[in-house]
Amino acid sequence: MNAVELLKQDHVVVKQLLEKLSHTTERGIKTRRELVNRLYAELSVHTEIEEQIFYPAYLKAGGKKDAVLYHEAKEEHRTVDALVLPDLLKTDPATLPFAGHAKVLKELLEHHIEEEEKDMFPKASKLLGKDQLEALGAQMEARRKALKESMTAHAA
Ligand SMILES: [Fe+2]
Ligand SMILES: [Fe+2]
Repeated sequence: MNAVELLKQDHVVVKQLLEKLSHTTERGIKTRRELVNRLYAELSVHTEIEEQIFYPAYLKAGGKKDAVLYHEAKEEHRTVDALVLPDLLKTDPATLPFAGHAKVLKELLEHHIEEEEKDMFPKASKLLGKDQLEALGAQMEARRKALKESMTAHAA
């Protein structure tokens, strides 16, 4: 699978989880917990393969102008990982602030995903070319599988 298709596949999963979460209420404590845990797992893996494999390849292939998108995307990851996601994880799902954190996370990630898909991915496709996209895709697929397996091992 090519790198962009693989990342877009992850995006579909993340967007579905965010959508489901947005329809929960303070009464759906168990559902909220499950959804947040799944989001956390999906995002950790996705962010890692982007930051360790895809983004560096994009940065290397592009010029100065393309680098702005890279730094912007990294900053958005940092906001989610260091601030919004930890807030959501430590907030009681039976409370109103939970919905606030969930809404901000959804808005941030939808914006981030849209920018990746509309700006960075098309640019990366042109810069990297078909063969490199396939090679990166294979590399990310293997890393994604390994990360998910180690997560399940730790959870068990
Ligand atoms: Fe991203
Ligand atoms: Fe992404």
